[in-house]
Amino acid sequence: MTEKALPRHVAIIMDGNGRWAKKHRIKIALGHRRGVETLRDIIRESSDIGIEVLTLYAFSTENWSRSPEEVEALMGLLLEFFISEIDELDEKNVCIRILGEKSALPLPQQEALMKAENRTKENTGLQLNIAINYGSRPEIIRAVKTIAEKVRQGKLDIDRIDESTMSEALYTAGQPDVDLLIRTSGEQRLSNFLLWQCAYAEFTFPTVLWPDFTLKEYHAALDDYMHRDRRFGGRKE
Ligand code: IPE
Ligand code: IPE
Ligand code: MG
Repeated sequence: MTEKALPRHVAIIMDGNGRWAKKHRIKIALGHRRGVETLRDIIRESSDIGIEVLTLYAFSTENWSRSPEEVEALMGLLLEFFISEIDELDEKNVCIRILGEKSALPLPQQEALMKAENRTKENTGLQLNIAINYGSRPEIIRAVKTIAEKVRQGKLDIDRIDESTMSEALYTAGQPDVDLLIRTSGEQRLSNFLLWQCAYAEFTFPTVLWPDFTLKEYHAALDDYMHRDRRFGGRKE
């Protein structure tokens, strides 16, 4: 059998922290804390094995509807993560990009995110996208507005709008589409994540909860992907 390539772009919906906490009869915030440990391992591994783009769903535009305590805990962990990890990520040549609307976040978080992006913007290793206050529909609306504004200013001809115009107006501009989408915890839905970018993605839904998602499981998902037959609408003899 021919050796198949690793996915260029892996996207992960890190789901199941709440259920993990419940299962262990501990506070939800501690479930999220354990989730951050998994995230750290997955980022390191992705960088080590040469994944080109890794996109992690950390906080959706819908997650604001959770209790103020939980939202606060998540925001706290976010800040902690960026402060504690930035040196190592920068050292590993990781380029950080935030997907989502930062302006709705608390100021210290906004600052930490912008700092991380600025500090790592020239890095040429793993492109790490972290989706925070992200929703795919708001992303698409934002892109449409950007495109419409260019048309209004006479900088873009309507007839020249094509798929690449749209791709380049999204947060993921310049990056390849998602090849493999992983959602842990057994849920099988997109929850407003990367609708445009996942047009031809392969999906895998490991039942394990995110804090229990190990490198072994990650490799199983990658391996599964490498055995898929991607046809993109065509036919292979
Ligand atoms: C995913 O875990 C993390 C975030 C949404 C931030 P959940 O908190 O959604 O975990 P479950 O789905 O309640 O188990
Ligand atoms: C999606 O998970 C968002 C993140 C993992 C950040 P949710 O747990 O919020 O999604 P639903 O509500 O189950 O669809
Ligand atoms: Mg969930």
